[in-house]
Amino acid sequence: MLRLPPATVAAFDAFLADRFPKATPARLSADAADLSEAFTAERAELPGSYLNQPRWRSAYLAFVHPQQVLRGLAAVEEVRTRAARRGLWPEGRPRVADLGAGLGAMSQALLLAGVSPSEITLVDHQRSALADARDLTALVAGAEPPRLRTAVARAGEWLERARREGWRYDVVLLGGLLNEVRGEWEPVLERVLRVLDPKASGGGIVVIVGSAIPPIARKLMELRDLALDATTTIAPCTHGAACPMLELRRDWCFTKRAAELPPRAASIARELRHQTGEVRFAMWALAGSPDAAPFEIEPRRHARVVSDRMEGEQVLCADGALHRIRPASPMTRGDLVVS
Ligand SMILES: C[S@@+](CC[C@H](N)C(=O)[O-])C[C@H]1O[C@@H](n2cnc3c(N)ncnc32)[C@H](O)[C@@H]1O
Repeated sequence: MLRLPPATVAAFDAFLADRFPKATPARLSADAADLSEAFTAERAELPGSYLNQPRWRSAYLAFVHPQQVLRGLAAVEEVRTRAARRGLWPEGRPRVADLGAGLGAMSQALLLAGVSPSEITLVDHQRSALADARDLTALVAGAEPPRLRTAVARAGEWLERARREGWRYDVVLLGGLLNEVRGEWEPVLERVLRVLDPKASGGGIVVIVGSAIPPIARKLMELRDLALDATTTIAPCTHGAACPMLELRRDWCFTKRAAELPPRAASIARELRHQTGEVRFAMWALAGSPDAAPFEIEPRRHARVVSDRMEGEQVLCADGALHRIRPASPMTRGDLVVS
């Protein structure tokens, strides 16, 4: 079961009370409802700089942020374990860039997963969000805190600058950034790949975490296919073949993980009739060089559960194909199965 450490929940709560004294529980709930609605409608109703506004930032911190940290934690734990088994996880203290950092959820997830970066560069065009991201990340950092830098910039501009200046990274995190990029995602990925350190294990690692909603998850599946020859997939897939789910019209790849939301977020989730016992997300994690290492388990023996149970059946994705099975007991979407 995923959960945030009590000290982290307390630190987030204290931060919220200190920075947003006007944010009453009733206001946070109402704003979180609007925020949540706008997110599922693909940001149609939100202004471009929503996180610069205290109203949206406090609602994000109270409701969305802890869930994003849990999603990031689930993703990072899987990616680190699987990458390490393939010799692809960076040795020592990685240099990390967190693009579209928001309030720094992905960086905080990395720290809570026990990774100890030497530096984290938080990049976002929303200045006030970035200031909070730096402070919240510092609150979560342990005995060996990373050097924290912030860059108020559009990701595209910052990536160009980083490439020109020769700034290089072992791990690049993109949590919920692509959701907000208008247009194609491939050029963003190409720019990200250019700031990975080619000398890092596997040529550096990128972890992309997005919403589990169909337009986002499907676009992520397509992005993986477009970059298949230039990258090495680490997760969610257990194989490096084209995605067989792209042919399906009514299903898409996402992961569910049992999770305990912090009390405030759980109470808002209950009001909104959202799930309180799990988090869902789409992800793709990759190494920046092609054919960086064989999969940790022979792809014919390793599968991911890619459906819920329907009439006793579930679907597994293995070695580039989908297989219907009748498991004795239900499995969770995103579970890994070894045969
Ligand atoms: C949904 S939030 C996710 C924040 C955080 N990464 C998380 O997982 O909670 C998306 C963030 O991406 C930022 N963003 C959107 N487009 C961007 C761009 N082109 N350059 C930099 N940041 C961007 C927004 O300002 C916002 O903070």
